[in-house]
Amino acid sequence: MVPRSPEAVAWQADAPDRARARDARSRSPLGPLLLRLYRVRRMRRLTRRLCERLEGGGMYSATWREILRERHGVEVGRYSYGAILEPGVLPPGTVVGGYCSVGAQLVVRRRDHPTDRPVLHPFFYNSRLGFLSRDTIPADADNPLTIGHDVWIGDRVTILSGCKRIGNGAVIAAGAVVTKDVAPYTIVAGVPARPLRKRLDDETIARLENSRWWEEPLSELIERPPVSGLLG
Ligand SMILES: CC(C)(COP(=O)(O)OP(=O)(O)OC[C@H]1O[C@@H](n2cnc3c(N)ncnc32)[C@H](O)[C@@H]1OP(=O)(O)O)[C@@H](O)C(=O)NCCC(=O)NCCS
Repeated sequence: MVPRSPEAVAWQADAPDRARARDARSRSPLGPLLLRLYRVRRMRRLTRRLCERLEGGGMYSATWREILRERHGVEVGRYSYGAILEPGVLPPGTVVGGYCSVGAQLVVRRRDHPTDRPVLHPFFYNSRLGFLSRDTIPADADNPLTIGHDVWIGDRVTILSGCKRIGNGAVIAAGAVVTKDVAPYTIVAGVPARPLRKRLDDETIARLENSRWWEEPLSELIERPPVSGLLG
């Protein structure tokens, strides 16, 4: 191991304090006001910027998560970041765990045009277009997607309606088109996405699952790492 300078050791020792400060900042007293401001359509971009500015960025902002929940119907867990924080990227009903990392240009689809019917156009299945009293194929919210904790989704990933669950610790390679569920701690790649390998041995996976480390705030994890190897 490379010997560390006294400054580096001191900096590492201060990490729990820095994490506590970040966690404390992640919920601004202005949160309720920002929730109301977001209702005004032309204030939406500004509201997001304020959430990020006041609460330490999208990775931390509790108010932005509340807005996504209340106004867009999606749950995004603590510290998860990337394209999943963009309003409208995740269909209503999507649940994302904590500590997920998501690249750019994610596309999530929850239903397909009806390929086995005489016509494909949404006039003939989507009641929102005004010609049917109800949808004639299940709505997006009837086929919700659940993404586990500490999942890594690469750039330009497409998740199609056949995938309902992506397990904890899974990795979706850049450019993958995911058509089925992804098992926990498995790396999938390609079009259609197929498993490349499991990331970890069964014993390590059991240890991670038993610890449920993702339920802890960052400050707690850094102060008292519940699993070895967390801090390098
Ligand atoms: C999947 C990934 C994590 C590498 O995982 P890995 O297990 O280390 O894979 P390897 O590099 O050993 O490659 C294993 C095989 O998968 C293939 N592979 C790797 N990435 C792939 C991809 N994105 N799509 C298709 N195949 C891929 C490799 O070509 C290799 O194939 P081969 O065995 O026929 O030679 C990486 O390639 C990737 O896609 N990272 C995402 C980067 C990104 O989008 N970041 C955004 C920032 S959040």
